Amino acid sequence: MHIPRYFIDELMAKVDIVELINSYIPLRKMGKNYVACCPFHTEKTPSFTVSSEKQFYHCFGCGASGSAIGFMLNYARFEFVEAIQEIASRVGMEVVYEQNDTSPIDNSIVDLYQIMQQVATYYRQQLRESQIAINYLKQRGLTGQITRYFGLGYAPNGWDNVLKIFGTDAETRNNLLKTGLVTQNDAGQRYDRFRNRIIFPILDRRGRIIAFGGRVIDQSKPKYLNSPETTLFRKGGELYGWYFARKQGVLKTVIVVEGYMDVVALAQYGIYYAVATLGTATTAKHLTFLFRNVSEIIFCFDGDAAGQKAAWRALEISLPLLQGSRQIRFIFLPQEHDPDGLIRLEGTQAFNKRIAQATPLSKFLFDTLQQQVDMNSIDGKAKLVELAKPLINQLPTGAYQDLMLQELSKLTGLNNLFVAKPQLKQSMDTSFRELSLIEQAIVYLLHYPELVKLIKYPEKLSFLNQDYIKLLLELIEFIQFHPQLRLGAICEHWRGTEYESTINLLAKKKALSFENITGIIEDEFTSILNRLYQSYQKSIDFLAQINSKLAQITQENI
Ligand code: UTP
Ligand code: MN
Repeated sequence: MHIPRYFIDELMAKVDIVELINSYIPLRKMGKNYVACCPFHTEKTPSFTVSSEKQFYHCFGCGASGSAIGFMLNYARFEFVEAIQEIASRVGMEVVYEQNDTSPIDNSIVDLYQIMQQVATYYRQQLRESQIAINYLKQRGLTGQITRYFGLGYAPNGWDNVLKIFGTDAETRNNLLKTGLVTQNDAGQRYDRFRNRIIFPILDRRGRIIAFGGRVIDQSKPKYLNSPETTLFRKGGELYGWYFARKQGVLKTVIVVEGYMDVVALAQYGIYYAVATLGTATTAKHLTFLFRNVSEIIFCFDGDAAGQKAAWRALEISLPLLQGSRQIRFIFLPQEHDPDGLIRLEGTQAFNKRIAQATPLSKFLFDTLQQQVDMNSIDGKAKLVELAKPLINQLPTGAYQDLMLQELSKLTGLNNLFVAKPQLKQSMDTSFRELSLIEQAIVYLLHYPELVKLIKYPEKLSFLNQDYIKLLLELIEFIQFHPQLRLGAICEHWRGTEYESTINLLAKKKALSFENITGIIEDEFTSILNRLYQSYQKSIDFLAQINSKLAQITQENI
């Protein structure tokens, strides 16, 4: 499925970035622009600026910037196609999909979501009618309220309940197969996947049902059965409970637990910000996603050996992600307890105490390593350095890494533990004046597309043989065809091309920082153009010179 560029251009002409961002973070008008405290870094005074004129956001504090689509990707964490769909639905446009070579048009994806929704409704209704299922949930301590909140249901016993009720035509029967609600054996016989199970709908971050988890209510195996990987459900990235947690407001912390029941029980006891990894180990994908949304992740594991191992694995994955104010902590529960059982046993207050006293990553790291060496011997201390350094090395350069090294020095008495890892300074700070003329021209055009009318001789520019001349020419042409588009939309046009990063970097130069005092911009731009034309003239003159030289030589040789 592919969305054609012309559609995105049209969409960008329609959307209002101020309105869009304001629906997520309240903006305040200041002069010509709108401001707020930056959602991409922590700050007390607002340096996040949204320009209606340019249809662009920019933070003077952390340098985050982009278009309406960029905001949906970076803040709301949509996938690209989702972002387009969301914006389109807000401005009332119908997304145009194009067939690309590999995959056929898949309009039926909408049908799949619809089926999931309908079947979920059916499962909920079945729960209301099944005393056995209700009893099971009651016996596990669930209230009706929390059951409804998470939309739990019941798939009754039988091989073809869903198949019969919903599979009334061939297309729907196929869709049932595609959603994994119905499965097929080698002989081609189709039957319901979920039978005699409590159903947990798994929602994506927009609240659409993408899969189900089903728990048996007796001793049969497997205890939990999940939807298979489908078009809607990609494993290894989804987190059960995220949608519900996020619904409660902007979160600072999430607790990562293992099971469905843990999420539900914690929520029932008021700890609404827990998510579960659906039976898989925590992946970098999970953490990257969470850290885009919260600054602290607390892992909650069983107190047994398996829990320790899972915690260490989580630590290893987290290290490279621990930049800025991001924090990781660990809760180790007493043996034989999971969050569900424990919170029902000891209550919210006691559990909150565990949260408050959760072990910081640094402590867990050093404690674990120290257990592996003899801290009373020099050899042991040297070993500790050896074990710790590669881990600390994985932390992003910064205060946290420095502190960890300091701690290691303190423990071992060794100084000079510094891991030299100079990081390239982002070239973002280079001043406008250091840019080439071509780059300067691009910056002007990005911010003041109307300047394009001052370019009388684009063909002269096309002779220049310099970096980014191709981009400049493409930009000129694009603006001429789309005079209504502003900075945000213009940048968007180059997403996914070789120039994407260049355009975005250039868009930040002087972004929103200076106003057009009548005529100055035009004058400066004209001067850049003239200098470019001059170099064109020079190369023409040079060519002429060479030509006459050649002519001369040829003459002399005759
Ligand atoms: P647990 O067995 O700890 O689940 O597995 P739980 O939520 O505590 O189960 P209850 O309390 O007995 O109902 C943790 C998670 O691992 C996945 C499920 O996502 C489960 O929530 N799992 C477990 C499976 O996918 N299949 C299984 O057979 C077991
Ligand atoms: Mn459990």
